[in-house]
Amino acid sequence: LGQKADLRARQILTGCAFATKAQTVKKTLQASTAAAGKESFSAIQEERREQAERSVLISCPPNINQKRFLDYISKHGNIQNHFFYQSYGIYAVVEFSSKDSIAALKANCTIPYVQHEAAVPFKSRLISLKWTGQGSQANASNTLKLQKHLPIAINELTQHLSKQESIDQQLQCLTDLYQLTEENISLRFLVCSLLRDIAAAYFPECIIRPFGSTVNSFGKLGCDLDMFLDLDGISGQNKKKGPGLSLEYHVKQGTSERTVTQSVLSVIGECVDQFGPGCVGVQKILNARCPLVRFAHQPSGFQCDLTANNRVAMKSSELLFVFGKLDVRVRHLVFAIRCWARVHGITSSIPGAWITNFSLTVLVLFFLQRRKQPLLPTLDHLRDLADPSDQCIIEGNDCTIVSDLSKITLQKNTDTLEKLLQEFFEFYGNFAFSSMSINIRKGKEQNKPESSPLHIQNPFETSLNVSKNVNTTQLERFVALCRESAWLLEQKEVLTRSAAQSADVIPPWGLTALLLPSVAQSAGVKGRRKKKHHPASERIKTLLESLKGNSGGAGAKQNAA
Ligand code: GTP
Ligand code: MG
Repeated sequence: LGQKADLRARQILTGCAFATKAQTVKKTLQASTAAAGKESFSAIQEERREQAERSVLISCPPNINQKRFLDYISKHGNIQNHFFYQSYGIYAVVEFSSKDSIAALKANCTIPYVQHEAAVPFKSRLISLKWTGQGSQANASNTLKLQKHLPIAINELTQHLSKQESIDQQLQCLTDLYQLTEENISLRFLVCSLLRDIAAAYFPECIIRPFGSTVNSFGKLGCDLDMFLDLDGISGQNKKKGPGLSLEYHVKQGTSERTVTQSVLSVIGECVDQFGPGCVGVQKILNARCPLVRFAHQPSGFQCDLTANNRVAMKSSELLFVFGKLDVRVRHLVFAIRCWARVHGITSSIPGAWITNFSLTVLVLFFLQRRKQPLLPTLDHLRDLADPSDQCIIEGNDCTIVSDLSKITLQKNTDTLEKLLQEFFEFYGNFAFSSMSINIRKGKEQNKPESSPLHIQNPFETSLNVSKNVNTTQLERFVALCRESAWLLEQKEVLTRSAAQSADVIPPWGLTALLLPSVAQSAGVKGRRKKKHHPASERIKTLLESLKGNSGGAGAKQNAA
């Protein structure tokens, strides 16, 4: 499995990454193989951050001629890597070999003059390339390869999935089609770096780091960009003072960490709103549990959430990354479950009582820890393997995890993805949610410490429940859908791909059948808009209908079986 995934990653990369020289393609491949290989989480993030600092984002005129573009831009310095994409217009990300080239490019850049308007003269690395020459740039757009930054539509996805030979292949195919590309991740780091330039006006040594699905290896194209403003390098709390005289800054004091975070974010949010090129719809949500500034970055098309003082969330992202790295099946299963949950409205882009992608991922990890032959170790085990240099205490919470993944020995588990998918649904279709809490630190369910319908212990802030927002209705929908999907995956007709009359018309089967509108849901949820039924094979419609006849709550699965 690992070899296949690696091969596919290489194929995707060679298909996507293109550059002026074959050498650059090779380098991109090496860099990303390193990123996918032995490097630690923080080393990968550092490498990407450094690349972003050497990069610029260029808005291009329509019909840009690639050769002319590269000839012109490379006059300012050696281009290490580049790619084009379409957002509101054509954009290019250009990574120079050296930061100095950016200064050379900027030296050639002017502030635009627009009649009856005035520009904020902020010289950022978001630059517009104007075509002032005579004549046309005909045929140019034909030669320009544009990177995709959005996921394919669900009907297109199901067509791809239906054509696969096995459920295992379907899950791998889903990951390939949905996961973030190297280019998309580079663009995310570049947006962080551009925002850092704004925040650096106040805090010159600050860093804006992406976290969440951008870095945790479970990101889907189109997911939001979670960032946090890291001021720790500035406060330098850990510096030891020797005996004798010492100096310290005279600073303003806030009443709490929270109020300081709120005032910093308020000012940075204001700057992003007033001066941030391409940043629109800025909302300061400072009274949330985790204060944030939300906005859209138009040139990249990313929905951005900027937080501060959020190191625990970064550690959670690292933890997910580590789990995703240990066995290739983890990511495939998480992508499949996230997709299944989204299609059935178990997760939502709107905040509310829905299960979040983060909680859902923890549910998958826990299930994999609970296999007879555990596929994943416990978080306590990851802590026990850590070196002294891995030690990490954040606000009194032990967030230590091993960074050298070669120290982790996994148990032999040979379950297929098909089996894991099937048993995931069975596991949660029958889990004692009313009395037990999900605990990935111990890899065992624990008695619930409080009465929330769904209790998933926060891996690092262990007194908190990451799914506190989930209400009984949403939990019941999740359980009902798990039972329905478990039942579907017991049917011969669902498990095997039937012979297609033509390559284009393959009846839904395997994962595709699980993505069909649910019977349990449309029967159980009042007042919801009825989902449009996609043309499904009569056989599966009949299966779903017979399920409807049997769906009577807890006994549904047993009755149906
Ligand atoms: P997407 O839905 O693809 O954006 O997934 P995501 O993992 O990025 O989730 P989201 O944007 O909601 O949150 C970003 C990160 O914040 C997560 O990856 C977690 O690290 C953290 N996070 C989100 N929700 C919670 C929560 O309820 N508790 C804790 N401790 N961390 C959370
Ligand atoms: Mg996110």
